[in-house]
Amino acid sequence: MNKLMKIVGGSLAVLAVGVGVTAGAAMVLSERKMNRVLDVQVAPADFASLDANMQRGEYLFLTRGCSECHGAGGEGRLMIEDPASGFYVYTPNITRGGGGAAAMYTDTDWVALLRHGLKPARTPVFIMPSEDYAQMADDDVASLVAYIRSLPAAPERKAEIRIPLMVKALYAFDVSTDAAEKIDHTKAAPVRVPEDSHSQGAYVAKTCTGCHGEGLAGGKIPGSPPTWPAAANLTSAADGAMNRYASVEQFREMMRTGKRADGTPIAVMPFESLRLMSDAELDALFGFLKTLQPKASGSR
Ligand code: HEC
Ligand code: HEC
Repeated sequence: MNKLMKIVGGSLAVLAVGVGVTAGAAMVLSERKMNRVLDVQVAPADFASLDANMQRGEYLFLTRGCSECHGAGGEGRLMIEDPASGFYVYTPNITRGGGGAAAMYTDTDWVALLRHGLKPARTPVFIMPSEDYAQMADDDVASLVAYIRSLPAAPERKAEIRIPLMVKALYAFDVSTDAAEKIDHTKAAPVRVPEDSHSQGAYVAKTCTGCHGEGLAGGKIPGSPPTWPAAANLTSAADGAMNRYASVEQFREMMRTGKRADGTPIAVMPFESLRLMSDAELDALFGFLKTLQPKASGSR
C-alpha cells in the first residue's frame, strides 16, 4: 500500500469510528430525550363543569387528525411504513379497551397530552402533534374526550414505533423538536371557541401549524420521512400556495378532493380528516389565511 493510500485508509477508519460514535451518541441521546420527564405545571382539570357535546366531540375527532392517525374507532393503525428509511409507526389504541394507552386517563392526563404534549408520566410524545391542540378551547377538549371515552373498546394491539437513526440524530441534536418543546406551556388556552369568523379561522389554523410551521410559512417538516415534500407556504408571499386559491369555492374543492385545480394530487396532507371540515370552518380558515402577511417560504 503506498503512503497516500495508507493515509486515506487511516482517515477512513477514523471517519468510520467517528460515524460509529455519532450514531451511538444519537441513539443514547435520543432515547434519553424521549424519556426525559418534564417539569411542566399542568392545571388540574375537571370536565364535569364544562359543556361537553358529543356531536362536536365526534366532529373534532374526525377533522383534527385523531381518527386519521389512530383509526376511525380509535383502535390504533398503521401510520408510517417507509421501508427505504425503516420508518415504521403503528399508533396506540386510544379506546378504553385492549390495554389502550388512554384507558386510565384522568381529565388532567388528557390536558397534559393535548395541551402540553406529555404522557401521564410527563414524558413527551414524539410524533403526535400536540402543538396543534395546545390552544384547543376547554369546551372542545371536554367534548373530544367525552366522545373518545364513548368509543367501543377495541381489542389489544400494541403500538409500535421504529424511528430511523437519521431522524433520531436530528432529534438528539435538537435540529427537530417534539411537541412539548414547541409548546408555550405558560400560554392559557381559551375557555370557548371564538365566535367571530376571523378568530375562528385562526383557531382552526392551529391544526395546520404542526406541518406548515408556527408562522404557516411552510418548509420541510422536522422529523418527517425524507420522501415527504416540504409543506407549502400559506402566507400571502408571492410564491405562496394560497395564490392558487382565489375563491373560497376553489379552496373548499382542494380541501375536499386533495387535488389542485390542475388535477395533481397534494402529498402528505391528512385529507381523510380535512375533507370532513364543515363549510363554516373552511370559510373561516380561508378568510384567515388570506389575511396572513407575506413570509419567506420555508421559514416555518
Ligand atoms: C400525526 C398522527 C397523530 C395525530 C394527528 C394524533 N395522534 Fe395521538 N399519537 C400518535 C402517535 C404516533 C402516538 C404515540 C406517541 C408518540 O407520539 O410518540 C400517539 C399517542 C396518543 C395517545 C397515547 C399517549 C400515551 O399516553 O402513550 C393518545 C391518548 C392520543 N395519541 C390521542 C390523540 C387524540 C385525541 C388526537 C386528536 C386530537 C391525536 N391523538 C392525534 C399519533 C397521532
Ligand atoms: C401532516 C402534515 C400537514 C397538515 C396537518 C396540513 N398540511 Fe397542508 N401541506 C402539507 C404538505 C407536505 C404540503 C405540500 C404537498 C405537496 O407539495 O404535494 C401541503 C400543501 C398545502 C397547500 C398547497 C396546495 C397546493 O395547491 O399546492 C395548502 C393550501 C395547504 N397545504 C393547506 C393546509 C391547511 C389549511 C391545513 C390545516 C387545516 C393543512 N394544510 C394541514 C402538509 C400538511
